[in-house]
Amino acid sequence: MWGLPRGRKSPSGFSPSSTAEEVTAGIDGSGLVAIVTGASSGIGAETCRVLALRGVHVVMGVRNLSTASQVREKIVGQVPTAKIEILELDLSSMSSVRRFVDNFDVLDLPLNILVNNAGIAFVPFKLSEDGIELHFATNHLGHFLLTDLLLEKINVTAKESGIEGRVVIVASDSYKHSYREGIRFDKINDESGYNSILAYGQSKLANILHSNELSSHLKEQDAKVVVNSLHPGAVVTNIARYWGFLNGLLSSLGKFVLKGVEQGAATVCYLALHPQVAGVTGSYFVDCNTVQLKSHATDKELAKRLWDFSMSLLR
Ligand SMILES: NC(=O)c1ccc[n+]([C@@H]2O[C@H](COP(=O)([O-])OP(=O)(O)OC[C@H]3O[C@@H](n4cnc5c(N)ncnc54)[C@H](OP(=O)(O)O)[C@@H]3O)[C@@H](O)[C@H]2O)c1
Repeated sequence: MWGLPRGRKSPSGFSPSSTAEEVTAGIDGSGLVAIVTGASSGIGAETCRVLALRGVHVVMGVRNLSTASQVREKIVGQVPTAKIEILELDLSSMSSVRRFVDNFDVLDLPLNILVNNAGIAFVPFKLSEDGIELHFATNHLGHFLLTDLLLEKINVTAKESGIEGRVVIVASDSYKHSYREGIRFDKINDESGYNSILAYGQSKLANILHSNELSSHLKEQDAKVVVNSLHPGAVVTNIARYWGFLNGLLSSLGKFVLKGVEQGAATVCYLALHPQVAGVTGSYFVDCNTVQLKSHATDKELAKRLWDFSMSLLR
């Protein structure tokens, strides 16, 4: 596995080989409620399992209900006390995001942790039902709307419980491979010049800019809520499913050189639960440690422009 050699100490005390179970060992999450998007597979499913293992009441936001039921059954088989709900959520559809939030409200639960994890990668050019390029719609805009609609509940829960609220945004180091201008505001839905690798990178850059800008807003409001983004590492999952040959290679050889989901979910669960993260906001984490962002991801004007642009798309 790439990164620090096994056993080498980092500031957090964790390394690329640390698992989600290891980084949350001894943490009691009972009484907390979390939403995890894309919890039907890969990093999201493992995050759901480990949060449930630590006593967190988890709501899975998924588009595939039958796969999600299988994931839930498996978790409950291992953790009989697990509290897990499943609600339908298609992040590429803004009406589905609004329906999800309405259905979550019906559950009448507080909300301590939001994990924006769902994602697609390297998809041939396609527009969503709302006419938005699919990576941008699914990975960024759907999560942007979801966060916006849930923020009041996260704020109120934090205030009433006295427990810091946490928003965890699963981005990727692929943010470094976006279009030259960072975000193609004027050509976001143009097929001409489209490149699936750059479109994925653009959406992951948008995740980080969203995290940074939201963190600034929350600081200004003196909210008791932190937001951080992360790269989970290179993890064997279904993420490269649209990349035929590479996907086959990753599934067969990946297990020897890449992280498994147990390690892939570590930074997500660390940011969701670990006391070391208390008060830390607007940071980018890799292997449970903060890492300096580069290039467009440090551009505050770009983050502000993306915020306004995203709001305008949702009007
Ligand atoms: N694996 C890596 O090496 C790697 C590296 C860097 C970053 N990441 C990030 O990690 C996150 C999780 O990915 P993964 O690696 O665990 O891949 P994965 O196994 O493919 O899981 C992605 C999850 O997102 C869900 N999803 C996709 N489109 C959706 C939509 N429109 N609405 C709701 N859910 C949707 C999928 O649901 P379905 O099963 O229904 O498709 C699935 O549950 C992604 O944000 C990805 O960008 C992964």
